[in-house]
Amino acid sequence: MPESIIIDTDPGIDDFMAILFALKSPELDVLALTTVFGNHFVEITTRNALRLLEHAGRDDIPVARGAYSPLVREFRDPPTVVHGQDGLGDAGLSEEPDSTIAHTRAAQFIVEAVMSRPGEITLVPLGPLTNIAMALKLEPRIVKATKRVVLMGGAAFAQGNVSPVAEANIWHDPEAAALVFGADWAVTMVGLDVTMPVIMDTQYIAELAASKTPYAEMIARIVPHYQAFHTAAYQTNGALHTHDPTAIAYLIRPDLFKTISRRVRVNTQGYGTGQTIVDGAGIWYDGVETTICVDVDAQGVLDLYKARITR
Ligand code: RIB
Ligand code: CA
Repeated sequence: MPESIIIDTDPGIDDFMAILFALKSPELDVLALTTVFGNHFVEITTRNALRLLEHAGRDDIPVARGAYSPLVREFRDPPTVVHGQDGLGDAGLSEEPDSTIAHTRAAQFIVEAVMSRPGEITLVPLGPLTNIAMALKLEPRIVKATKRVVLMGGAAFAQGNVSPVAEANIWHDPEAAALVFGADWAVTMVGLDVTMPVIMDTQYIAELAASKTPYAEMIARIVPHYQAFHTAAYQTNGALHTHDPTAIAYLIRPDLFKTISRRVRVNTQGYGTGQTIVDGAGIWYDGVETTICVDVDAQGVLDLYKARITR
């Protein structure tokens, strides 16, 4: 029985790669995409989500638009240097969609879906956690009705990617992240500790493209911009760190990951804003524990991704 998931997303090049991965994996049933600001303004990430599903031949999957900005902060400068002016590598994949978004906005959409199927739906946030926090505020009972939350975000013991300690998704809306990590539900954090080591090099990307499957061809079109960013930022010589697809890999093959259960708090102030603070000793915080991915069989994730996308 495939796991029913709602992907909350800010496509975004790696979101695009992750969603295609999920669509190609029989272990998962993608019920909907809910969109959020982050890699771009939410109008752009929503357009990109609609276009992705059209390109993928899955415009049967609904898209519900979400938050324009964080709970209490401003969102002004989308990271176009990372994902391009159109959010998808400026590769011509983001022209105006034919399909339209669902009438219901993301937070309400999540509440209605989860409450209609208690215990059956997994939330998979791949962007800032604003929609998830809003859903919690709209209907606190989703805490018990949600099967689990598997999110790409945070850094347990690894360096941050938008500050020495903060990962981008958490940093964009730390107040929302604090609510999500602090609620009494099953959260798994797929953070930079395990996404940075999953590296798609130029040979790997060429092998994806050589398969000439429709999904691989779309990925080959949008990644050059992302490769250029990684080369400039991390001197990777065209290789890229694989963030959002690694969260999807966890859903499919959790055995490729090592996890610990610890309590997590999110810093919302000062230089540490956006830090996911892990109570490693288990003595400082109380409340619910988070399942934290701390190690990964990176080659196993890459092999799984290639097997699905080139199939
Ligand atoms: O830090 C990586 C995360 O930030 C990924 O989800 C990427 O898409 C961006 O949203
Ligand atoms: Ca993302």
